[in-house]
Amino acid sequence: MIEEKIQRAAELIVSSRYAVALTGAGVSTESGLPDFRSQEGLWRQYDPSEVATLSTFYRDPHKFYAFYRHRLALLREAKPNPAHYALARLEALGKLHVVVTQNVDGLHQQAGSQRVLEVHGNLREARCTGCGKMFPIHVLDPFLERAEIPTCDSCGSALKPNVVLFEELLPVEVFEEAEASCRRCDLLLVVGSSLQVTPVAYLPHVAIRHGARLILVNAEETPVDKFADVVLRGKAGVLLPRLVEEVERRLA
Ligand code: APR
Ligand code: ZN
Repeated sequence: MIEEKIQRAAELIVSSRYAVALTGAGVSTESGLPDFRSQEGLWRQYDPSEVATLSTFYRDPHKFYAFYRHRLALLREAKPNPAHYALARLEALGKLHVVVTQNVDGLHQQAGSQRVLEVHGNLREARCTGCGKMFPIHVLDPFLERAEIPTCDSCGSALKPNVVLFEELLPVEVFEEAEASCRRCDLLLVVGSSLQVTPVAYLPHVAIRHGARLILVNAEETPVDKFADVVLRGKAGVLLPRLVEEVERRLA
């Protein structure tokens, strides 16, 4: 059964004119980074309202940074997995124009994807909440080791990792570019997202409304399964390489 679906998905990719991938934390779990909402997700261990909102950053920066110290330690060990490489290969084959990602781990770029839109920011850098000065994320390390709040060397204000927290706006230009690519695409490949968080959760509907076909690669059901042309249920690190293998065979 899954083989037929992979064939069908490969046909859609080969015949697509402008394909876009939309990824979530599920594409990085096989790199050892927990996602948020599945059984072993981060939001099962931590309450997001206590560690991932802008108000908690200001109200209790020590709790906020205890969480981010854990996340940054996990990220240091993480490497791209076959799912990331498969999407980079699809772009190299000219059959994927852009990866819109909710992930802040930078693994798509490390795997070789050239056009990546990070709509939830990134964990490569931190921004000063006072003067806006940017710092590479490793500047936080000595502060976190001493359990101190990282501060700006210019104005002394607290530094914040450059990720979009709940209650924060997404980077406007990046999201507008992501939305424009979903309006323009004739194929959207959604990989490893529960599609619970807006405004990203609207993007598949933007694509569908503009006539795009939809392929879903996810371990669990999502709210857009019923709109999908193909649903590949399982691990992205296994399914995507198989899918790209089929695309290569057809393009040869
Ligand atoms: N292969 C395929 N799917 C997987 C895999 C895998 N190896 N591992 C997990 N999944 C699926 C899970 O079943 C789940 O449906 O990926 C999905 C991940 O969903 P979430 O944990 O909700 O992650 P995401 O959709 O990226 O969350 C969106 O929420 O907390 C915020 O800012 C955070 O960017 C994040 C946003
Ligand atoms: Zn500053």
